[in-house]
Parts: sequence; C-alpha cells; structure tokens
Amino acid sequence: MKRLSVVTGATSGIGYEVMVELLNHDVDVIAVGRNINKLNEIEKRFEDKIKSKELILVRGDLSDNQGSMDVSKNIIDLIQARDGKLDLLINVAGIVKSGYEENKDHNELTFATNHLSVYILTGLLYPFLKKSKDPRVLVVSSLSHYRACFDKTNLQSKRFYNVLRGYQRSKLYNVMFVYRFSRFEKDIKIYAIDPGLVKTDIGDKHTNTIANFVWRMRRKSGVDVDIPAKHMVDIAILDRYLMDHGSYMKLGKKTKSSRITYHTDKQDFLWKESEKITHVTYPFDEVSIEES
Ligand SMILES: NC(=O)c1ccc[n+]([C@@H]2O[C@H](COP(=O)([O-])OP(=O)(O)OC[C@H]3O[C@@H](n4cnc5c(N)ncnc54)[C@H](OP(=O)(O)O)[C@@H]3O)[C@@H](O)[C@H]2O)c1
Repeated sequence: MKRLSVVTGATSGIGYEVMVELLNHDVDVIAVGRNINKLNEIEKRFEDKIKSKELILVRGDLSDNQGSMDVSKNIIDLIQARDGKLDLLINVAGIVKSGYEENKDHNELTFATNHLSVYILTGLLYPFLKKSKDPRVLVVSSLSHYRACFDKTNLQSKRFYNVLRGYQRSKLYNVMFVYRFSRFEKDIKIYAIDPGLVKTDIGDKHTNTIANFVWRMRRKSGVDVDIPAKHMVDIAILDRYLMDHGSYMKLGKKTKSSRITYHTDKQDFLWKESEKITHVTYPFDEVSIEES
C-alpha cells in the first residue's frame, strides 16, 4: 500500500502546496480544511485523485479541543479503513489574529489553533504513526518565534495580548513541542519547520486594517509557497533527514532555534499545561510517570 499522509491547513498557502507536492510524490493525502467552499474547489480540481482515494478531504475546525478531537476521530476512521497505519503528519494550519478572543474552552484562539490542535492531533494519531515503518511529523513554526518570551504565568497571553505576542508565542510553543516530543520518542521522527517569509494570505484573514496593511507590505519580500513546500516534502520523505530528528529546520537545513526553546523545564511545563487543558496523554508520558 502507498504511504499515507495527513496535512492540516490544506485549503490554502503552504498547506495546499504541500498537499500537491505529496500527491506528485505518489503519497496519498488526507487533507484537512475548515472552509467548505475551498474544499469543494479542491474536490473539483482533483476529481481523479478523489475518485481513486489518493486524496481524501476532511472538513473540521481546529480552533478548539472538541473540533481537533473530531478531526482526529474522522482521520482515525479513514486510517482504520485502510491498513491501520499513518506515515506522515504535517501540521500546517495556523492563524495570525488581531484582538484577543477566546474559544469555547476559554483558551486564547491563536494558542488553541496554532499549538493545542498540534498537541491533540499528534497525540491522538500517535498509535497509528507508531505502526508505520518510517513515521514522520512536521510542525510548521516560524522565524517569529525568535522574538517570543516564555512566561509561565501568562502562557496564553491572556494578559497584554497583541497580535505579535500571541503569534510569536504560539510559534515558540511549536518548537518546544517538537523538542519535548523528540526527547521521549525516537521512532517517530519529528521536525519544527521554519518556512521563511512566504507570500500567503495569512495576515489578511483575522487581522485589523493596520496589521493587514503591514502584512501586505511585508509579504512582498517573501518567497512563493512552492519553496517551503518542496523542502517540507523532502524532509518528510528523504532518508538523509532521518538524522535531523528533533531539529528546527530552516529551508531544509538544521538551524539553531531561540535559546528558550532548549530549556527542558519550560518544555515540560508547556507539555503538562497542554495535557491539563486537552486531557490528551501521550503513551511515553504514562511510561515515564510509572517509572518515576
Ligand atoms: N506565510 C508566512 O510567511 C509564514 C511564515 C512562517 C510560518 N508560517 C506558518 O505557516 C502555516 C501556514 O500558513 P500560510 O502562510 O500558508 O497561511 P494560510 O494560507 O492562511 O494557511 C493557513 C491554513 O490554516 C487553516 N486554518 C486556520 N484556522 C483553522 C482552523 N481553525 N481549523 C482548520 N484550519 C484552519 C487555513 O484555513 P483557511 O484556508 O480556511 O483560511 C489555511 O488553510 C501557519 O502555521 C503559519 O504560522 C507562515
């Protein structure tokens, strides 16, 4: 059977291009998106791939716990209808948000969408990744994480929220999640991805006029989506990247992330908080708790 991947944020930007690149590399894709019109467009454009089940679309919203769990459950049903294993999980979905907003669980929306959904999806799909011969997980972070600070008393930026603080912290947590995961799990290879500055609409969607304007100016100097997508698919499938397990990858090369990301006590704190909020436990945590 062909390799199976899951790509979140597949309806636009980097995620869409990763989906296309994976299909071109003969990898089957379960593509997750929240927008029905965009999913319908993909369905029309890739009619043949949908018919042959090389491409399967899953609609869902990753902005709260239940939404992420429902998406995971739908994906699990699809995996179980095949051979029960998942080879690649590519976490791309993300937002940039002006103005503080909480989701149904009273979690800040950027924190929930950009970090908690990754924690939930990866945790619930973990047993199926474990069955693959060469499982890999990618989490899209950002160079903006370098500007973030870590505040145990204000993890979600509920105090002093602004668009940059909320986003930068969520991208910092993406890197810390990858490092914490790789400390405990050796079989499933995991990578934090820095795609560089990319020409997408991310800064247009949930932002006010000023942030919108700044993003439109800034993205002019960005690269096209095919550049990060190509690097990401290389990392997901080529043998030479196996040795970079647990690394921060900028345009296909292992790179140092910010100093804070390497603090294991902070990684553990974030992990435990995410576990408390989502009630998702990773199997390696159960083992380490029993042993301690
Ligand atoms: N563009 C850059 O310069 C840049 C730089 C560094 C990192 N990144 C990261 O790259 C990732 C992709 O961003 P992009 O630039 O390609 O922007 P994008 O085109 O806006 O892609 C984001 C994707 O996430 C989806 N999404 C957002 N909220 C969701 C939710 N609640 N449930 C399900 N899906 C949701 C979006 O769906 P819709 O299509 O419905 O909006 C979209 O498909 C993000 O994690 C971002 O932080 C981007």
